[in-house]
Amino acid sequence: MIVRLHGKPRPYRTVSFDAQRNAVLLIEQRLLPHQFQVVAMSDYRATARAIRDMIVRGAPAIAATAAYGLAQGARAFRGRSLSAFEQHVQKVFTTLAQARPTAVDPLNAMRQILHAMTTGATVAERQKIALHAAEQFAQASVAECLAIGRHGAPLIKDGMRVLTHCNAGWLACVDVGTATAPLYAAHQAGRHFHVFCDETRPRCQGASLTAWELHQQGISHQVIADNAAGHLMQRGEIDLVIVGSDRTLGRTGHVANKIGTYTKAVLAHRHGIPFYVAIPLSTLDWQIQKPEHIPIEERDASEVLGAWGVPPGRSARHRLYVRIANPGSHARNPGFDVTPPELVTGIITPIGIFRPKDLWKHRHRLASPTTRNTLP
Ligand code: MRU
Repeated sequence: MIVRLHGKPRPYRTVSFDAQRNAVLLIEQRLLPHQFQVVAMSDYRATARAIRDMIVRGAPAIAATAAYGLAQGARAFRGRSLSAFEQHVQKVFTTLAQARPTAVDPLNAMRQILHAMTTGATVAERQKIALHAAEQFAQASVAECLAIGRHGAPLIKDGMRVLTHCNAGWLACVDVGTATAPLYAAHQAGRHFHVFCDETRPRCQGASLTAWELHQQGISHQVIADNAAGHLMQRGEIDLVIVGSDRTLGRTGHVANKIGTYTKAVLAHRHGIPFYVAIPLSTLDWQIQKPEHIPIEERDASEVLGAWGVPPGRSARHRLYVRIANPGSHARNPGFDVTPPELVTGIITPIGIFRPKDLWKHRHRLASPTTRNTLP
């Protein structure tokens, strides 16, 4: 998307690759909205740390990062033995896969790269194929987000007030976003609407990232405290909810997404407000049969007990952590929750909008070529 820095517009992607330096390039999201900086990860371990420490975050963005990380690790291998190479690639895969557990996208993306690599006869060929496949994944991910925008845009009518949770925007993807894709498409079509960004404690991705994105694009928006959504719904001030997902179960239609999504879905249902989830195909999990088997990331208690920020008028260099909770008190910090299908009006995908319960029926159209053959 276009970023305006010191008044100058320039296109950026959240994730890209520098083949010459064998480095993964990432927008340093922990500094936003106070500072815009692109950082280079020079080996696959650094790339895995960037995912774990949330320099990059959002399911499709960490998928592309993991895909590039796998190619990066593969390209760093020196030697000709295919079995030693395979062992090395397996280690790279595991390191990247373990960085964050809830999103299925990185696993799907890396499996796609591994599958493509099997066509190479030598180490050198496989290294080349790995990068090509990672580039293709990233490119396809952008195309899917644009398609989500085309299918979802008709839901956004003139004058609507739309609620979104966390950041499922272009910063959470390679570009464009999932939940924001219909918003950007409707905005481009000249429609006027207003977006409420849930602040999204504890890390505040809504207040810092979604609000920054919408401001950059000139879309009318306000940040609301997480607790305000019910009140606004009750007063008839929210017409539609769109969120992203980190893992959507193809078999049941359950949606794992940022903690607090379930609460919003319950509220939307109570008030008869349509609740949509926008996903690329890499977010679909066709294996897990029960929602309680989705791995839910438990993050550090410090995120709940305090907050990161910048004193008014200071730069990101002055970013600091302040303690909010009672000293001596502990916290619990589940990063995600699961919304059951009966609370979801529709899943906006690159090939159309589906009822969550119908995903399985359409699995052969929705599954990626790598997983399609394994489905009944
Ligand atoms: O912890 P985060 O910031 O990675 O969580 C992000 C979300 O929950 C997004 O809604 C999800 O990844 C979908 S992004 C298109």
